[in-house]
Amino acid sequence: MAAALLVFMLSYILHPQLEVLALATSSDHDFSYMKSVYNATDLPLEDVYDYIIIGGGTAGCPLAATLSEKYSVLVLERGSAPVSYPQVLNANGLLTNFLQEDNGKTPFQRFISEDGVPNARGRVLGGSSMINVGFFSRADDQFYNESGIDWDMDLVEKAYQWVEDTIVFRYNLSTFPSIYRKALLEAGVGPDNGFSLKHLVGTKASGSTFDDQGRRHGAVEFLNKGVLKNLRVAVEAYVEKIIFSSSNNASRLSATGVIFTDSKGKTRRASIRDKGEVILSAGAIGSPQLLLISGVGPVPDLSSLHIQVVHSNPDVGNFMADNPRNTISIVVPFALDPSVAQVVGITGDFNIIEAISFNLSFSFPLPFGLFPNSTSPLEFSVANIAEKFSGPKSSGSLRLLSSAEVKVSPAVRFNYFSEVGDLARCVKGMRKVGDLLKTESFKQLKFQDLEGAEGFKFLGPPLPKNQSDDASMETFCRSTVGTFWHYHGGCLVGKVVDGEYRVKGTNSLRVVDGSTFNASPGTNPQATLMMIGRYIGLKILHERKAAK
Ligand SMILES: Cc1cc2nc3c(=O)[nH]c(=O)nc-3n(C[C@H](O)[C@H](O)[C@H](O)COP(=O)(O)OP(=O)(O)OC[C@H]3O[C@@H](n4cnc5c(N)ncnc54)[C@H](O)[C@@H]3O)c2cc1C
Ligand SMILES: *[C@@H]1O[C@H](CO)[C@@H](O)[C@H](O)[C@H]1NC(C)=O
Ligand SMILES: *[C@@H]1O[C@H](CO)[C@@H](O)[C@H](O)[C@H]1NC(C)=O
Ligand SMILES: *[C@@H]1O[C@H](CO)[C@@H](O)[C@H](O)[C@H]1NC(C)=O
Ligand SMILES: *[C@@H]1O[C@H](CO)[C@@H](O)[C@H](O)[C@H]1NC(C)=O
Ligand SMILES: *[C@@H]1O[C@H](CO)[C@@H](O)[C@H](O)[C@H]1NC(C)=O
Ligand SMILES: *[C@@H]1O[C@H](CO)[C@@H](O)[C@H](O)[C@H]1NC(C)=O
Ligand SMILES: *[C@@H]1O[C@H](CO)[C@@H](O)[C@H](O)[C@H]1NC(C)=O
Repeated sequence: MAAALLVFMLSYILHPQLEVLALATSSDHDFSYMKSVYNATDLPLEDVYDYIIIGGGTAGCPLAATLSEKYSVLVLERGSAPVSYPQVLNANGLLTNFLQEDNGKTPFQRFISEDGVPNARGRVLGGSSMINVGFFSRADDQFYNESGIDWDMDLVEKAYQWVEDTIVFRYNLSTFPSIYRKALLEAGVGPDNGFSLKHLVGTKASGSTFDDQGRRHGAVEFLNKGVLKNLRVAVEAYVEKIIFSSSNNASRLSATGVIFTDSKGKTRRASIRDKGEVILSAGAIGSPQLLLISGVGPVPDLSSLHIQVVHSNPDVGNFMADNPRNTISIVVPFALDPSVAQVVGITGDFNIIEAISFNLSFSFPLPFGLFPNSTSPLEFSVANIAEKFSGPKSSGSLRLLSSAEVKVSPAVRFNYFSEVGDLARCVKGMRKVGDLLKTESFKQLKFQDLEGAEGFKFLGPPLPKNQSDDASMETFCRSTVGTFWHYHGGCLVGKVVDGEYRVKGTNSLRVVDGSTFNASPGTNPQATLMMIGRYIGLKILHERKAAK
């Protein structure tokens, strides 16, 4: 597993050769939003807003921008602005993200689940959309049917378009993605869907939040579309707790504000006006954590941590799921341009297969004085194929390790492959990867040995020789499991929040982020999270207008 992880980390030596056709137009980074960004140390000790959004992430930024069209909005983000970490602004900073030591302030926060799989989450304005790989693809139809939300599909479409006009790019396929695309079609992953942002069974090219120059346009740029004078974004603002009060409703408690600390550890408060709301967008780890700390959760757990119960709900922190990532990497016998994921294969069984190519370079001392000069650089191109499946069915839970200190990450367990069906789906997906290796298109990626025999050079674990053998395929799936970083759950729709993302048993409190998902939407989740941020913002604006 360590080798597979290293290979994937090294895959972030990227320098995409992208060509823009334009959904968004290729442009420099737009930092206009910085006019609304404040250091939390400069905020008043107490203040009042219409909306308080906890977490300036992938869903939080479009939501904040939208609400600022009519109302005053405070965004509280524990990380700093992207300008503080230049590596988040460019594709070739991806490697830095992965390798930089986590000092508690860096944008790439590491965590290891109790399953033993290394994982990461964003800690920067723009959230995980500022550290991710940029692949952009909309949700599958099944997601809308099974998400527990009564979607207004016209509004969904409008919300996606708003997102795509702002930060999504299309480019011509580079060499490896073209080979990969042909191989998918040859291996029966049809039909050929050309370029599409939609989730379609078959093979397609999709969009990216990186532009042709490799510049990242993450969720932070949605803030530019807000009304900046109504928007206050505090960075290095760590939300400690949600405040509840029974003053205006005896039957249930209402969220009335939050307590947060600045980088000097000074405590501040912000509260909401009448008809306003506190909205949690702290991500699948941060949102359940804050609900639990604030007293919404399973009574036995809260009581044992001496947390006063605001509302009893056994499902807060439950159903934490992470789609397994299983990969193979092969060394390619010729030079390839590095490429980010541009093409995806989606099988009828909803196995999702993505691929990247990258250059691996070594500079190492040669042993035994074989050559007079002690170091020699070696560079070769590598193709990496990664498989995911929709869902997953397996899930675990999240629990607090500290009730007093929000900076102590909760413990989380995903129980990969604990539901039998999941392992079978991985096996199916990896067999499809095996089929790719048998295609004509992939023949050119083989090496020839001195006797003329052809074969792939695997970097890291190869697929089992006998791919019909379930046992060896299952062993491969379990032993090479990594994360696709699409973890979700903890505040599921129907269990913790209702069909409007309101926290059950409370007033004036919603959760809008990946913690509400019972399955990871589409091929990759960021498109849907951005859409939902915009969508809920518009819904709230419409509802309040109608109520006037
Ligand atoms: C390495 C990596 C690669 C990925 N690649 C892709 C990809 O190519 N395509 C794709 O679609 N998806 C990808 N993903 C997944 C995708 O980026 C995430 O699913 C998505 O960004 C999550 O959005 P969110 O709004 O739920 O949470 P986030 O975007 O993580 O936002 C949560 C925010 O809340 C803040 N926060 C948390 N707690 C507090 C607190 N107590 N006080 C104040 N602020 C707080 C955090 O700092 C963060 O900014 C990737 C993820 C990772 C990590
Ligand atoms: C993309 O490829 C097409 C077809 O080869 C070509 O006409 C077009 O100019 C290319 N786009 C860019 C931006 O180079
Ligand atoms: C915020 O202010 C504090 C105190 O002056 C400082 O230590 C910190 O670096 C500042 N943070 C940012 C993002 O400017
Ligand atoms: C979703 O629901 C609609 C309406 O009930 C139905 O026509 C469609 O087939 C469903 N799609 C999926 C993927 O379940
Ligand atoms: C109090 O909460 C109940 C339950 O949600 C709700 O029906 C009622 O309208 C609320 N009353 C006020 C005054 O907000
Ligand atoms: C990638 O490596 C190959 C050598 O295998 C080299 O020819 C090519 O220029 C490299 N590309 C980049 C962008 O580094
Ligand atoms: C070693 O390096 C020197 C100076 O860079 C060079 O002249 C010489 O050819 C090298 N020797 C070999 C065997 O590469
Ligand atoms: C491959 O595995 C299957 C199932 O276990 C077995 O029946 C078959 O004999 C194996 N083939 C070889 C060549 O070992």
